Amino acid sequence: MARITLRQLLDHAAERDYGVPAFNINNMEQGLAILQAAQACDAPVILQASRGARSYAGDIMLSKMMEALEAMFPAIPLCIHQDHGNNVATCMTAIQHGFTSVMMDGSLKEDAKTPADYAYNAGITAEVARLAHMVGASVEGELGCLGSLETGKGEAEDGHGFEGALDRAMLLTDPDEAERFVAETKVDALAIALGTSHGAYKFSRKPTGDILAMDVIERIHARLPNTHIVMHGSSSVPEEWQEIFNAHGGEMRETYGVPVEEIVKGIRMGVRKVNIDTDLRLAAAAEFRRIAVTKPDEFDPRKFLKPSMDAMASICRARFEAFGTAGQASQIKPIPMADMAKRYSSGALDPRSATLAAA
Ligand code: G3H
Ligand code: 13P
Ligand code: ZN
Repeated sequence: MARITLRQLLDHAAERDYGVPAFNINNMEQGLAILQAAQACDAPVILQASRGARSYAGDIMLSKMMEALEAMFPAIPLCIHQDHGNNVATCMTAIQHGFTSVMMDGSLKEDAKTPADYAYNAGITAEVARLAHMVGASVEGELGCLGSLETGKGEAEDGHGFEGALDRAMLLTDPDEAERFVAETKVDALAIALGTSHGAYKFSRKPTGDILAMDVIERIHARLPNTHIVMHGSSSVPEEWQEIFNAHGGEMRETYGVPVEEIVKGIRMGVRKVNIDTDLRLAAAAEFRRIAVTKPDEFDPRKFLKPSMDAMASICRARFEAFGTAGQASQIKPIPMADMAKRYSSGALDPRSATLAAA
């Protein structure tokens, strides 16, 4: 069994100074592509499912698929994570289905659209952490709202995130508040707002420090050196895949993602989990378009899906290599959740001061 908690994996990453991409998964092809890439370079894996993924595939299909991937790739430590949980029930039912980690995103209210205040966020996140830690599962919280520092707007683009404008203070996580939030909630990892947003349209130009505030990471890491920082909205939206997409009838307008070299700088400053969904969607869709246009008589879905899987796997492999995840899988022996639960209950895993190696 190679199932691992987020906490164990990120503690390992912190001890060895690497980052772990967290790829979103909705179907078998994404799962196989990610795990094949991981196997090829000996990387541990975080697979995360959004609420949308859970309703698309269904909890039974998703959890059986995770079991199948675990059986097919037994040497790869596999963390299964709920992405953007909106309430206690979403997080608890994920754990019931075998997830080893959950994100309670209390930066927004339950509707996943309305920005929440600090008290609501800290209260619900602490409650999820208390319950999840009892069974050894890990918890990620979020402080600050994802959105664009260029426009001041949220990201209603793909159906979640706030709509309308917010002031700059809410789009950037405050280091004082971050320190208080981690102390009050006991989260194992903290997602921060620094100007990234979900989807393809993050920046209208190659981002510089005024619109991608990497200095926020540095300031939070100085306050919370043992807390694992999470970057959401971290697809790079590679130009080469935009070109393939657009050369075959696609209409993606000019856009820029988060450059891989910026993420690598972030990893040096304490980022341990890097969320990536859009890049795999784009590469898969670009391959679909390419096959549809270059082979108009093709109708076997496998002839579309296999190139899509290869495209997704090539991106995963590149991120594993760039973030230093490659070569780490064989260095990790997963600790069962029941053992993690004991460590939490003994108080050995305070996220501000302890790492698993010391506990
Ligand atoms: O949280 C953002 C991820 O890209 C998941 O997106 O809700 O469309 O599955 P989704
Ligand atoms: P991207 O849309 O940049 O891939 O971000 C995904 C994400 O943050 C999932 O939580
Ligand atoms: Zn996200």
